[in-house]
Amino acid sequence: MFRLLPERPGDLDEVEALYDLCFAPGRRALSSYRLREGAPPIPGLCRVARDEFDALAGAIRFWPVRIGESGAPALLLGPVAVHPTRQGEGLGGALIADGLERAAEAGWTRALLVGDEPYYRRFGFTRAQAEALAFPPPTNPDRLLARALAPDAFDDVAGLVRRWDDDA
Ligand SMILES: CC(C)(COP(=O)(O)OP(=O)(O)OC[C@H]1O[C@@H](n2cnc3c(N)ncnc32)[C@H](O)[C@@H]1OP(=O)(O)O)[C@@H](O)C(=O)NCCC(=O)NCCS
Repeated sequence: MFRLLPERPGDLDEVEALYDLCFAPGRRALSSYRLREGAPPIPGLCRVARDEFDALAGAIRFWPVRIGESGAPALLLGPVAVHPTRQGEGLGGALIADGLERAAEAGWTRALLVGDEPYYRRFGFTRAQAEALAFPPPTNPDRLLARALAPDAFDDVAGLVRRWDDDA
């Protein structure tokens, strides 16, 4: 049994430790992290999953970013991680589906992530929707995925994904 809860300031160290456990060393060198420096994560969309003993089993965060010259707003999903002992129980899926539902309710129309399409396709993320987008290097462009949270949200949206506070 898991409870999905808002991430609170007191969860920070535990969540960071979970990400350290689940991702390769050097995760903070990824271009996603540079994009996240432009703004804080979105409080209502950062969530943790705790088990019946209150142990942290999973966590997800979302950051705001902009796309291209128009500066179209989008959400960058991630990091999302589930503790290795709790993987494969549907928790990652629950965190992602819950987060995307809340994002759409909050009025966000575009979501992006860098990840494996075979996993994220089930949540509506595809490489095809991200075809006109570019991500700062050294990210592998084949791993940039997008999902429209409102009809036609990626029509006429193209260009480089950039920081929320980048007014260029
Ligand atoms: C990716 C992750 C969040 C998924 O969480 P989870 O709770 O194990 O996922 P779920 O239980 O909802 O889904 C499990 C299914 O996803 C599949 N899956 C998990 N990672 C996958 C991947 N990278 N590619 C393809 N399928 C994947 C599993 O094989 C399983 O398939 P099944 O339903 O056919 O059995 C978790 O494995 C994790 O924390 N991994 C390490 C960190 C990471 O890679 N995060 C994502 C960064 S892009």
